[in-house]
Amino acid sequence: MSKKEHWDNIYSTKTLQEVSWHQPIPKISLDFILSLGLPKDSPIIDVGGGDSFLVDSLLNEGYTDLTVLDISKVAIERAKIRLAKNANKINWIVSDITNFLPERIYSVWHDRAVFHFLRKEQEINSYLKSLNNGTAADGRLVLGTFAENGPIRCCALDVKRYSFNDLEKKIGDQFLIEKMINSIHQTPFNTEQSFNFIQAIKR
Ligand SMILES: C[S@@+](CC[C@H](N)C(=O)[O-])C[C@H]1O[C@@H](n2cnc3c(N)ncnc32)[C@H](O)[C@@H]1O
Repeated sequence: MSKKEHWDNIYSTKTLQEVSWHQPIPKISLDFILSLGLPKDSPIIDVGGGDSFLVDSLLNEGYTDLTVLDISKVAIERAKIRLAKNANKINWIVSDITNFLPERIYSVWHDRAVFHFLRKEQEINSYLKSLNNGTAADGRLVLGTFAENGPIRCCALDVKRYSFNDLEKKIGDQFLIEKMINSIHQTPFNTEQSFNFIQAIKR
């Protein structure tokens, strides 16, 4: 099964309450983005956003230039149905992030629980290249991955876990870390997942 088929299959067969990553309010991501105090028309991309509620919260906060990218067309269709008439306020992109050639630059590149699925060096490097090409000169990265004591697998896929030091090593040439937070995510089925979040500014 290809990566795309894997994720389409998950989004075709599981409800929000049946996926570990669901959050009714993505508080940490939202707090990071709001604390930047950017103009409301700043371009923000949620990479691997799936049907996350982050864009709903950002729309409520008045942000007007929002993009959601995901490998799964099914995830994007689900998010569009949920957002109903607000769906046309979002730019939707169906793409594998490791093949993504950004056509514009973003002020904020947000990724929660996507980067850690990339395990091959080549995929990680492609992601970092897109990140570099797709962010403005003073652009921000808000990245949340499983921490060093987080799960080793998610939805039947092995993941790479990252300490803050590991994250610094991966993105440190391009970005300067401004904030780091460890956060314990309570899954909809009452288990815990340790995440490391960083906010970083482009060098
Ligand atoms: C664990 S979910 C997290 C979803 C969302 N970021 C959130 O926090 O609710 C991982 C998401 O990444 C997407 N994804 C996985 N690999 C991807 C890739 N190579 N390119 C783009 N999206 C990908 C999946 O379809 C899924 O929506």
